[in-house]
Amino acid sequence: MNGSDNATVFERAARGRPVPHTPIWIMRQAGRYLPEYRQLRRTVDFLTATRIPEIAARITLQPMQRFDMDAAILFSDIMTPLDPMGVEVEFAPGPVLPEPVRTSEAARAVRELVPEEGVPFVLEAIRAVRSELRPESALIGFAGAPFTLFCYLIEGGGSKDFMTARSFLRREPEASRALLDTLGRSMARYLVAQAEAGANAVMLFDSWIGMLGPDSYRRFIHPVLTRAFKTVRGATDCPIIYFPNRGGPLLRSMRGLDVDVTAIDWTLPLSRADALLGGGRSLQGNLDPAELFGPPDALRAAADAVLAEAAGLAGHIFSLGHGIDRRTDPDQVARLVDHVHERSPAGAGQT
Ligand code: CP3
Repeated sequence: MNGSDNATVFERAARGRPVPHTPIWIMRQAGRYLPEYRQLRRTVDFLTATRIPEIAARITLQPMQRFDMDAAILFSDIMTPLDPMGVEVEFAPGPVLPEPVRTSEAARAVRELVPEEGVPFVLEAIRAVRSELRPESALIGFAGAPFTLFCYLIEGGGSKDFMTARSFLRREPEASRALLDTLGRSMARYLVAQAEAGANAVMLFDSWIGMLGPDSYRRFIHPVLTRAFKTVRGATDCPIIYFPNRGGPLLRSMRGLDVDVTAIDWTLPLSRADALLGGGRSLQGNLDPAELFGPPDALRAAADAVLAEAAGLAGHIFSLGHGIDRRTDPDQVARLVDHVHERSPAGAGQT
């Protein structure tokens, strides 16, 4: 669906158009906090689950069957497209690379992704989900942002400060630029391919961007993101969502990025994020996932605080400020979803 009136509530909110209620989905909504996910994972490992379209589609739909979410997000991982780019990735449960990229030669050897050849199973899963999803639910396709993928590629796995990756950026600036550029072009193509397969919105996850200062962001990352979003914008009508996790200090530098929605983590109020971004566009977020561990009344009050912060925005998609914790009680998620739907019609600018 597109910008016309049969667009989903999610797409309309993304574009800052009037909506009957604030749409909600939850980052990592298909995952280990759901007993039905854990049950299925007893029979199949994570990588296999992401590579078999029928299984990926089934997992994508699990939270949609249990909750009244406005959007599904494809069950996959930001590391999924790296294998056809020549980089092997294992999961334990976070990503681990047996051979991290540690030299200029290795950085230049990473190949550009051809989505139809490299990850046909992802596009197949999107088609399968879209054919089963209710028309009023949106499907979000996604990719990892260039810097976040760069961090995993160089570091070889998770890290508290990604010092190997951040130092490589300074030791090998030209090879780093070449790798970031390959990643940017690949992920732009990947998002376009997902939109063409039937995704209604595309989201770029930049989980580690908050580790860069504004100066390095502007020098190394802003040009790559600008080009990537330009490619996506030129090739599809899908709303574009960008999630600069812990990126508060960078938001002012991100004003010029051509995205429809910026997803905000919970460390700054939405009104403050809006002011830093220059206003006029939609935001997504930003409940602290830890609020789901409080008593139901406190959870509802915390959701109300997010909705109050969002009252003056051009558009708002309710979500968590980061992924849901695997120890979360699914009943709390149901309470949150229902509460946001009940409370939000009074929101300002949403007739
Ligand atoms: O429901 C959804 O949100 C869709 C699926 C999804 C997964 N990963 C599934 C997954 C999405 C959108 C992602 C994105 C992702 N993956 C990011 C960006 C978002 C963020 O959290 O910052 C990152 C950094 C990754 C890399 C990654 N993959 C990590 C750090 C982990 C370990 C997570 C954990 O909870 O321990 C993974 C594995 C992973 N990806 C799981 C799931 C459901 C757990 C796998 C399992 O079943 O064991």
